[in-house]
Amino acid sequence: MLAERPRSSVADVDSREPSISIRGLRVAYGRTVALSDTTLDIGPREFVSLLGPSGCGKTTLLKVVGGLIRPTAGEVRIANGTVEEARRRRAFGFVFQDATLLPWRRAGSNARLLAEIIGGKALDQARIDGLLRTVGLAGFDDSYPSQLSGGMKQRVAIVRALAFDPQVLLMDEPFAALDALTRDRLGEVLLHVWAESKPILFVTHSIEEAAFLSDRVVVMRARPGRVLEDVQIDLPRPRLHEMKESHEFFEITRRLRRLIDEAQATAEEAR
Ligand SMILES: Nc1ncnc2c1ncn2[C@@H]1O[C@H](COP(=O)(O)OP(=O)(O)OP(=O)(O)O)[C@@H](O)[C@H]1O
Ligand SMILES: [Mg+2]
Repeated sequence: MLAERPRSSVADVDSREPSISIRGLRVAYGRTVALSDTTLDIGPREFVSLLGPSGCGKTTLLKVVGGLIRPTAGEVRIANGTVEEARRRRAFGFVFQDATLLPWRRAGSNARLLAEIIGGKALDQARIDGLLRTVGLAGFDDSYPSQLSGGMKQRVAIVRALAFDPQVLLMDEPFAALDALTRDRLGEVLLHVWAESKPILFVTHSIEEAAFLSDRVVVMRARPGRVLEDVQIDLPRPRLHEMKESHEFFEITRRLRRLIDEAQATAEEAR
């Protein structure tokens, strides 16, 4: 099993400055209010998951944070600057449900793609090789996407997102299309590479996955989308698979399941 690297001491982080600060966010698509009154802080080294029923605005929130859509009202700050400034610095690494690799590029070349486009210091071949090894893709550099499994493609997508050393990682159901075993394994891989200590905003529908990976799980409700509850996950790190059988883990997932049921019920009432 991959050992999660020890986390750096919190003492060398300015904890007064959250890496992502979301204030009073509202997003309307015409008459549909996708997000309303959403406020959230994500610390410089925090792994935060968004969990909630379909349509509660998880993807919308991720897109606003990453500057892909503008909010109707409210503000997002990244490391105390605007989202536009962060985009110009290429602060964001994205991973989506679909790996979207270029079929004519080999695995290694797909992994380098964004770093190549950015150029200069971003194209650190030793770092990219190291990441490919870390995610278990050493030796697959020359394979085309059509020769890789779904899990392997998603590994390439993770390396591609991390290759240029982004400040913030935004992941929208990155493992949703994978089988349960591959999904568990990639969760471990992600924890391993994440120990580089960037904030991650991670969207999932899996209660177990959110509980196992995260420092906090933000449960959202729909119509309009907003935060229902922000749940601190007090499991020690490194996270080990055995923890999934612990009483604490069971209690956490039970609490999250109840919150999801509540979120679902309020969404249905609002329908
Ligand atoms: N481009 C768009 N135009 C109009 N409405 C949209 C658009 N994108 C999202 N919506 C609406 O905004 C709401 C939130 O959508 P969003 O995709 O953020 O939800 P989600 O929580 O990611 O859902 P899922 O779990 O199904 O991915 C939904 O009601 C959706 O129909
Ligand atoms: Mg979504």
